[in-house]
Amino acid sequence: MMKTAIYSKLQKKIISVTLLVSLAPLLLLGVTIYYQFARMYRTKVQEQLQYRAWAQAEAMDLFLKERTAILAAMADTHTFNEMIEEKILGSIFSVMNVRAGAFVDLGVINNAGQQLAYVGPYELRGLNYYQQEWFGEVMSKGIYISDVYLGYRQLPHFIIAVRRQEGQNPWILRATIDPAVFGALVRSAQVGKTGDAFIVNEAGVYQTRPRFGGQILTESGLDTRLFGGSTSLMELKTQDGVAMLYAGSWLKKHNWLLLIRQEAAEEMGGLFTTRNVEIAIILSGILAIVLATVFTTQLMVNQLRESDRRMNGLNAQLVQSDKLAAIGKMAAGVAHEINNPLAVILQKTGWMEDLLQTEDLKSSENLDEFKTSIRKIEEHVERARKVVHGMLGYARKMEPRLEDVDINDTLKQTTSLLNNFARINNIVIRTDLAPDLPILASDQAQLQQVFLNLISNAIDAIGKNGVVQISSIRSEDEVHISISDNGRGIPEEAHKKVFDPFYTTKQSGKGTGLGLWISYNIIEKMGGTITLASKEGEGTTFTVKLPIVVPEKK
Ligand SMILES: Nc1ncnc2c1ncn2[C@@H]1O[C@H](COP(=O)(O)OP(=O)(O)OP(=O)(O)O)[C@@H](O)[C@H]1O
Ligand SMILES: [Mg+2]
Repeated sequence: MMKTAIYSKLQKKIISVTLLVSLAPLLLLGVTIYYQFARMYRTKVQEQLQYRAWAQAEAMDLFLKERTAILAAMADTHTFNEMIEEKILGSIFSVMNVRAGAFVDLGVINNAGQQLAYVGPYELRGLNYYQQEWFGEVMSKGIYISDVYLGYRQLPHFIIAVRRQEGQNPWILRATIDPAVFGALVRSAQVGKTGDAFIVNEAGVYQTRPRFGGQILTESGLDTRLFGGSTSLMELKTQDGVAMLYAGSWLKKHNWLLLIRQEAAEEMGGLFTTRNVEIAIILSGILAIVLATVFTTQLMVNQLRESDRRMNGLNAQLVQSDKLAAIGKMAAGVAHEINNPLAVILQKTGWMEDLLQTEDLKSSENLDEFKTSIRKIEEHVERARKVVHGMLGYARKMEPRLEDVDINDTLKQTTSLLNNFARINNIVIRTDLAPDLPILASDQAQLQQVFLNLISNAIDAIGKNGVVQISSIRSEDEVHISISDNGRGIPEEAHKKVFDPFYTTKQSGKGTGLGLWISYNIIEKMGGTITLASKEGEGTTFTVKLPIVVPEKK
């Protein structure tokens, strides 16, 4: 549990460092590129808008200039008396429309404001313009272009007028410009879904009809003073809060401001598409990085965990074999020390037994008491000797003798030793031996001791009625011998302990607890392993693995 927490903490650390290191520059780069691009894009859009306003203002200037020039040329080349001839005026009018166009009507007005001659669709002949604002302007300035107004005809229009001086009497040639033609020309500058192009006068009154939200001669609500210089750019909000880009350019011929208006969002539409594409690319990049990081760290941590686990297993094995070796040395020493006193005790007990045969002791009323005590002593000394011999035997035979050993033969011999005992208890010993086992260079007596202990343990674990299965197989460079029983099994917590010396669950006097300890040491000395798999209540399998050491050819 602790370990798992350590691994996931490690993984989290690696992931966060990797992500930080890789994502931070990615995001920084993305944001930087976006802002650079946005700045460039915005400048480009604004420049373009401004250029369009400027170019359209130039076109409108040219339009007015041409019309003014042709009107002045006509006035210059004709006398007042010719002009008031309506036939001549009519032909001048048609020449002007052929050469320049967009003229609605043409009139000649004397210095008293009286329109003496008129060609055009309205009944304006004989009207007096003395009171009109433009009349004063043209009389004083010589050339005048009006703002749009309603006039006698009660229709929005504007006029171009030139004054001529013939002797003492100035007169005026005046033409009306077709507002439809003029307006259409202005509107040719509008683009896109929200684009608009129109002209306002200094007071902000529409001089041409805008595409959205207004009529000619109504207030636009724009403060034209904001538009300084010849061409300028402005971002203003509408009443509904929509951001609008305005490019304004003042006409040179007249105090008119040509405006091109566009929704900022539409102008920046390309930018938003680019931004979304960039975000999508960066997001998928991030996703890929995150997935790759999680995947690789998972792989790494799993490997680490696996190798840690293997290492721990090896460590445990080492500790186990170290412990057993140390105990073994000590036990052998102790056994040796006890061996001699035991011999003396046994000898003296025999002597005491002999003494009981003598006359005076035979008549003792405690004779039986003595006899049972002596038998008990002998019995227990015998048991002690068994233990001591086991340990000494093991100590003496530490180094295996090498001889040709047929594992299957050894197993069969061992089985035959135990067969009778097994049959009495209704236990079947089955063998399944691989026919192709090689002859090993090993110690037959020691192996027999091991097998004998394993098989008798199996029989003991069953008690009565059961099966012991003995099998051998060859696996690459090892021989595996397994002894299984369907006895009571070994509880998980005892798996480590069964190899300890003197660990036994058998009744006192029945088992010494040395069998597996000796077996373990023997097999280890041979370079093999002995392992167990067991489930409580179901059975146990001990497996001995011996390296294949082939005897030298003699
Ligand atoms: N096949 C098995 N099934 C169940 N328990 C086993 C099996 N083999 C060993 N044991 C357990 O391991 C203990 C130790 O075994 P070990 O062979 O070392 O000593 P023992 O059999 O008790 O005594 P001894 O071998 O001197 O007769 C046994 O007492 C028993 O509890
Ligand atoms: Mg045993």
